Parts: sequence; structure tokens; C-alpha cells
Amino acid sequence: MEIIVSYNKNRTIKIFSNIEKLANHSADFLMKRVKDKSAFDNFSIALSGGSTPKQIFKYIADNYAENIDWQKLKIFFGDERCVPPNHNDSNFKMAKEELFDKISIPDENIYRIQGEKEPAKEAERYSEILKSNLTHQNNLPQFDIVMLGLGEDGHTASIFPDQIDKFYSNKICEVAIHPQTNQNRITISGSVINNAKLIVFIVTGGKKANIISDIFSERDSSTMYPASLVSPKQGELVWMLDTEASQLLDSEIKQAGIIL
Ligand code: 6PG
Repeated sequence: MEIIVSYNKNRTIKIFSNIEKLANHSADFLMKRVKDKSAFDNFSIALSGGSTPKQIFKYIADNYAENIDWQKLKIFFGDERCVPPNHNDSNFKMAKEELFDKISIPDENIYRIQGEKEPAKEAERYSEILKSNLTHQNNLPQFDIVMLGLGEDGHTASIFPDQIDKFYSNKICEVAIHPQTNQNRITISGSVINNAKLIVFIVTGGKKANIISDIFSERDSSTMYPASLVSPKQGELVWMLDTEASQLLDSEIKQAGIIL
């Protein structure tokens, strides 16, 4: 069973009873968008990091390896930890193991953030990569899809609450520092995130329920969360939530939904 809530123009929440259903539906949703557009043009997606996307990548590899024209898909990353590509913290490593190694996507279609390089130089290099490999809108590179996760402190991509100014940076990519681990990160800025045609937030687990509730209730306190600043200029925003992450949402948000 899933609850689909269109809570206002171009904003949709989908709530799933468990992570498996969320992952499978999210993968199907993403691949349908890829199929629809790649029939006539290249498609660009920025993958999110962390652990949540793992099941989505696995489902895509298991179910779409043979029926997507991978030549038409350009895969980027919304953020990366500043570690080598074979490091267990690397978002690229997880995506490679769960997806890239199982599909016939050309190596040149995968645009890795080189976490092993000097951060400021890599942020600059990756900004140039985005500028030269994406279409432009509002004088910024524009992704067809940006996938995002939500941290337990309200961060998204690698824009953290104590560096929230980086959300509205006029740069395409920024260097950030994880507030707990002091790990350097490269991240696309919020300006690029909000320029996407479609943003898909994928959030699971009860630890994020308070933040989800704050963001959707638009409480003043929510603006301290970078994730609350995600609001596509012209595009769509879809939240994929499991019942744990959505448990504190106001009932009217849920009741407005269509229960399938
Ligand atoms: C990263 C991510 C980050 C992540 C959230 C959620 O590199 O860590 O891009 O924004 O999406 O921290 O992570 P989980 O999916 O592991 O909860």
C-alpha cells in the first residue's frame, strides 16, 4: 500500500509501508523518467550518497540492466566524500558495486567526483565538468534528476546546517566539511539542486521523522535545515518516504493522499 499526496503544485509525497516497496517504486519511477526522455535525448542524473540508495541501485541492476539504453544516460554525483574511489566511504564505490558493474553503461558516461584529489581544485574541476556536460537553464547547469537523501541533522547532499550558506552559493560545486567527522566533501550547491527538472528525496527511518515533520509544517525552526531549502525553481519535487520517516506528518497531509 502506498499513500500518494500531491500537497501542492509540483510537490508530491509518496509514503510506503516498508523500505523495499519504497526502493522498488523509486527505482521504477526513476527508470520510467529515463526511458521517457532517453528515447530522444541524453538523460542526466545526479546520484545521492549514503546508504539509502543502495537498495534502489540493486533493484535497478536486477530489473533494468537489459531494458534501458544506457548509452543515453549520463550519471553524475550530487556529492562525494574526499576519499579514494576504492574507500568504503566512497559514494562512487557503492554505486559501482551495486549498479555500474552490473549494467552496460560506457565508462565515459559516469562522471566521478575525484575524492582523492585536493578538494578545492576538484570542486572547480567538477564544476567545469557539469558546465560542459549538462544543458543550461537560468545560467546554471540543469540536471534532469537530482536524487537527494536527508541526514539526521537535516543536511542534504553535503550541505550541512553549520555551512548552510553553501546552499545559496553562486558556485556550482562547493567544498564542505562534515561537522562530526571533519571529513572533506565535494557537493553541488543548492542553486544547482533547485535548478533541476526533478528532485527526488528518498528518506527512511524514524530518526528523520522530526525533521520531516518540521520541514513539511514549515515551522521557522525548519529553515536551519539545508534540506528545507530544497525547492525547485520550475521543476518537480517528489518525496519518497517510508511510514517511519513520515510518522509525525500532520494527518491532513496524509488524508489528502490517495491510498492505493
Ligand atoms: C552522503 C549523502 C548524504 C546522505 C544523507 C542520508 O554522501 O552521505 O549524500 O546527503 O544522502 O546523509 O544518508 P543515509 O541514506 O545513509 O541515511
